Amino acid sequence: MNYQNAIEEALIKTKANITRFGDLFPHTSKDEVYQLNPNDNWTNGFWVGILWLCYQYSGDQAYRDAAQSAVERMKERLDLDQHLDTHDIGFLYTPATVAQWMIDEDQQARLASIKAADRLMKRYRKELGLIQAWGPLGDPNQGGRIIIDCLMNMPLLFWASQETKHDHYQAAAVQFIEKARRYLMRGDDSSYHTFYFDQVTGEPIGGATQQGYKDGSTWTRGQAWAIYGFALAYRYTHNPAYLETSKRAARYFIKHLPENYVAHWDFDVPIDDQIKPDSSASAIAVCGMHELLTWLGTEDSDYTKFSQAIEKTMQSLTADYTTEHGSEGLIDHGSYSVRENKSPDDYTIWGDYFYLEALLRLEKGYTGFWYA
Ligand code: GLY
Repeated sequence: MNYQNAIEEALIKTKANITRFGDLFPHTSKDEVYQLNPNDNWTNGFWVGILWLCYQYSGDQAYRDAAQSAVERMKERLDLDQHLDTHDIGFLYTPATVAQWMIDEDQQARLASIKAADRLMKRYRKELGLIQAWGPLGDPNQGGRIIIDCLMNMPLLFWASQETKHDHYQAAAVQFIEKARRYLMRGDDSSYHTFYFDQVTGEPIGGATQQGYKDGSTWTRGQAWAIYGFALAYRYTHNPAYLETSKRAARYFIKHLPENYVAHWDFDVPIDDQIKPDSSASAIAVCGMHELLTWLGTEDSDYTKFSQAIEKTMQSLTADYTTEHGSEGLIDHGSYSVRENKSPDDYTIWGDYFYLEALLRLEKGYTGFWYA
């Protein structure tokens, strides 16, 4: 399937999903049916982002109406401060309210996005220089823990500084990114999923996984978040160290891919014929590498490697990972958490979002909503 056809197919499925999902939000699938939630999950922004991408591409009012209606529910969640005790606020609001601001210059969406950034700032523990990922602030187990996924929440803070001209959002983001670069990334260009710091002294304790194979392993999706997150950090700051870190993460990712260029769920899991892929990690990595290419000249020694990886991955995803006509998911064989047996081989709404963003990056030059 060429990219154009793949986009058209995604639009058809999304239009059907608007009716199927109604006021609910999809997360991951079970038996090829999306499990829906009333608006209490970390992934709900991705559904809204898909709707905005479809509208941006097609100009079809049906996608816009559905996106606006979902944004209202996202704003309500923010106003009531429900299910927001997490670092995932960037994942939730960047493709929802920031997207609406970018598309429509809607002032209410802009204000909601700033409010979301303020909510995310409540996770910033200045005394430790980190953004706490999970659990109540200062939780004895989770209080000093950072996770690599959080890199993708940083564009909301960068955006807020840009919009409001207040630099405290960006300062917190940079502090977190520095910690991520120093402690989550490893010398061989692989990454920890999460890392703990002592909550009294701030001293580093050590890396550990949540969704990866084991504590020292490289969880594929975490590595993909690193590729894209550091590339976006470079876009906002122009700190060359972030560009280099994104390149390092991408080189490692590509070097450890199987023949079809779609990543297994962890780079260190023993390979056998039961091993599960994570198509969502590959879709994220494609978007991250495409963002990286923006900054690399064609003469850069990695340019060809990254371009070829993008192409080969997308060939595999469009040929072998897309779902049958009439299905709810856009791509199959994503894994939420194989380790915890949570949707280990299913549709994931973030995989669908990044797959569509990747197609639109390649076919139309759109870049999602992570920066204006
Ligand atoms: N941010 C959670 C995940 O990637 O599963």
